[in-house]
Amino acid sequence: MAIEASAPGKAILFGEHSVVYRGPAVVLAIDKRARVVAQKRNDDRVFLDALDLGFAGYFEGEEYHAVVGERKRGRSLAAFNTAAVKTMEHLGVEAGVSLSIRSEIPIAAGLGSSAAVSVATVAAIGALLGGALTKDEVCSLAYEGEKVVHGTPSGVDNNISTYGGILKFERDVGFEKNTLDHSPVFIIGNTRRKRSTRRMVEKVRLLRNRNEQIVDNIIDAIGKIAVEGLTALHRADLETVGDLMDINHGLLASLGVSSPDLELMVHASRRSGALGSKLTGAGGGGCMIALTEDASIQRIQRAIRRRGGESIIVNISQEGVTTREIG
Ligand code: MEV
Repeated sequence: MAIEASAPGKAILFGEHSVVYRGPAVVLAIDKRARVVAQKRNDDRVFLDALDLGFAGYFEGEEYHAVVGERKRGRSLAAFNTAAVKTMEHLGVEAGVSLSIRSEIPIAAGLGSSAAVSVATVAAIGALLGGALTKDEVCSLAYEGEKVVHGTPSGVDNNISTYGGILKFERDVGFEKNTLDHSPVFIIGNTRRKRSTRRMVEKVRLLRNRNEQIVDNIIDAIGKIAVEGLTALHRADLETVGDLMDINHGLLASLGVSSPDLELMVHASRRSGALGSKLTGAGGGGCMIALTEDASIQRIQRAIRRRGGESIIVNISQEGVTTREIG
């Protein structure tokens, strides 16, 4: 028997970084997914393959053994190994499993690819070995994987990947699911510059250590933007949503997490008709997100491509993690 689990990536509309300091964030699940196929093995190994990226191997404790590709590539699998091991501990099962990981979500780009893989890993193992886990269980076990990649992440990524839709998320409080009666159009521009969330969060922490009151005021302002932005989104007031995205971007830039290529794409998309645009995720590279009316879609996409970016139209995915039996 094999189980395939899939989980969506995400784009943060408002509140990245401030969410680390317990501010509210508004986050969208996007229609780009990670898929993990889990199968039992005859030995007791957790075998992980990311063969479309050219590597596969297994862990003995912390030690990665490469079977395909370079050993150093294995570091990026450590989070999923942890998610798998923690899930089996939770189920009280000792077993060997093979996990095949495939993803449409760009890696290290701020779109939650690692959380989506961790969430799908936990759900696939749960269904394979112990019957279905609840979504709450999937979410908190996936967070164990997220800690390996990101240090002490807020939890926004594993929550949106698990539950899907549009979430207002607050650390230590949890999430509130939102539904809209309209379908806003978002374009993502990927600078293709990979960056580490852990490093960007650390950069903000150091800035805050040196300038605590000022940074706290910026973090508070971003939190207020998230709350007002969600209200404006509900009443389909896209002009206000756009304004707030622009202001949120300016505040993120003031925290030092923008980059020259993000700035180029953010400003080019505004000049091409976007109602608002901002970096999304940890910044320092990765992606920006623009809100647009239909009439400007092509101009914005061209503007992003002309600045060297990859442009993706994303729809909000209502579907969080799912599992199905295959073969
Ligand atoms: C990462 O998707 C968003 C950040 O706010 C980090 C976090 O929430 O853990 C930058």
